[in-house]
Amino acid sequence: GKVHHHTWNISYVHKSRDCFEKLAVTVNGEAPGPTIRATQGDTIVVTVHNKLETENTAIHWHGIRQIDTPWADGVAGVTQCPIHPGETFTYRFVVDRAGTYLYHAHYGMQRVAGLNGMIVVSVPDGFVEPFTYDKQHTVLLEDWWHKSVYDQATGLSAKPLVFVGEPQSLLINGRGIFNCSKPVPATGTCNTSSPDCGLRSLFTVVPGKTYLLRIGSLTSLSSLSFEIEGHSLTVVEADGHYVRPFVVRNLFIYSGETYSVLVKADQDPRRNYWATSHIVGRNPTTPSGKAIVSYAGNDPQMTPPTAPTTGPPWNNTAIRVEQSRAIVAHPGYVVPAPARADRTLILLNTQNNIDGHIKWTINGVSLHFPATPYLVSMKHGLTAAYDQRPPLDSYDLMGYNISAPAPTNGTIGSPVYRLAFDSVVDVVLQNSNMLDNRRETHPWHLHGHDFWVLGHGDGKFNPAADAWRLLNVKDAIMKNTVPLHPDGWTAIRFHANNPGVWLFHCHVEAHVFMGMGVVFEEGVDRVRRLPSSIMGCGHSKGLH
Ligand code: C2O
Ligand code: CU
Repeated sequence: GKVHHHTWNISYVHKSRDCFEKLAVTVNGEAPGPTIRATQGDTIVVTVHNKLETENTAIHWHGIRQIDTPWADGVAGVTQCPIHPGETFTYRFVVDRAGTYLYHAHYGMQRVAGLNGMIVVSVPDGFVEPFTYDKQHTVLLEDWWHKSVYDQATGLSAKPLVFVGEPQSLLINGRGIFNCSKPVPATGTCNTSSPDCGLRSLFTVVPGKTYLLRIGSLTSLSSLSFEIEGHSLTVVEADGHYVRPFVVRNLFIYSGETYSVLVKADQDPRRNYWATSHIVGRNPTTPSGKAIVSYAGNDPQMTPPTAPTTGPPWNNTAIRVEQSRAIVAHPGYVVPAPARADRTLILLNTQNNIDGHIKWTINGVSLHFPATPYLVSMKHGLTAAYDQRPPLDSYDLMGYNISAPAPTNGTIGSPVYRLAFDSVVDVVLQNSNMLDNRRETHPWHLHGHDFWVLGHGDGKFNPAADAWRLLNVKDAIMKNTVPLHPDGWTAIRFHANNPGVWLFHCHVEAHVFMGMGVVFEEGVDRVRRLPSSIMGCGHSKGLH
């Protein structure tokens, strides 16, 4: 394959992404950053210069499995030391499967500050996709706060907790419209003449043609519904895997997911249409994200004659679960799941009060990233660098009431699930009510793998009853991110055959910051000699 070289300067720039001026972390001055384009089998080389004056960084290539390059996964504290201001770090990895992927900062909560983008990997020459289209476009969905990342992180660590709150805006391809005539905080200004702000055409369609939209969500908090007024969306790909096509009016998409949909330009061509994103799963105070889909011949900026679409009710969980269940593998592209697992982890998430700090725990442990990246400490036997006590494979299934707040406190730690190399692992994610008894959606993302989505269930997963028989091994879709719906469970299966150390976490930035994640190790002894560029911090100082 080809080698694509990119040089990225990461720096803070004043941006007016939704008309309100705020510092954003940018790639070469842009937020979101450039779309990386390549063909399956190509190599991507990104030389990152950290030009943030006082802040570390690390960049994760979301959905890229990093086979043979676990040190390029870009997670500070897991696969590398953070890149300090003034330093340069080079990521080099192969994009081994066609599809739509993402990239974003993976240092603290830095993603909130705007370091986001997409990776589009085309099929190799001669390969025929199971659908056709005339042209393709990318659509990146984000949410956006006027509070700085520091303000947000400080609040989350505070006693008592100050939550980040609802975003001020939803962005589509990096742009939104904040109502600047509303009183704005004294610390900010609205810059309505900025080229970044305002309603604009996402793309122009020609009547009768079909378009492939590669849609990705890198929201920090929000679960979204996306729609194009009057047009149906045929879902054909999810996280790089072909889906048995199904038609929706609105696509539910969770942070860290990507979908490709086909849209046919089959509506009245004399007018334009709304493309909108709406918050679901949380009671929204945020206006919808809005952009225009224009028909050729019209002024692309012409506002549609109708009111913007408002989306489905935010609290209808059932229709979201139904759409999650509709996503199965395309019949011609089924990767059969192994018939059974060697090990099953049942991971209960709870919100806990640990010494006055609100944390998320998984089976009682709130994940704290160690100063030394796990990959280095595990490969080099630096046992003092992380918790040696293994975390629990399950929670108290019988005794625990998932419909009530957590009765116990839990602990903060940095343990690791050590998985037998080449084994098959099932994970059942079990949701439960929060301390205030509300119910949240958690999109879980696994680094270094795709997993089979075996099923989404209601209430409490019961391994003794018939839960296992309901699981789909026949045509399960493979994904890297999957929602865990309120008052329910989600079961996944994966093959622990990628030597390295991999994070598995909720993709809500505030949640992983509050400890909602676990770490898997598999075959670390098989990992080749680690590059010294990932070392130098914590216990890995001497190894640098
Ligand atoms: Cu896109 Cu660890 O995340
Ligand atoms: Cu979460």
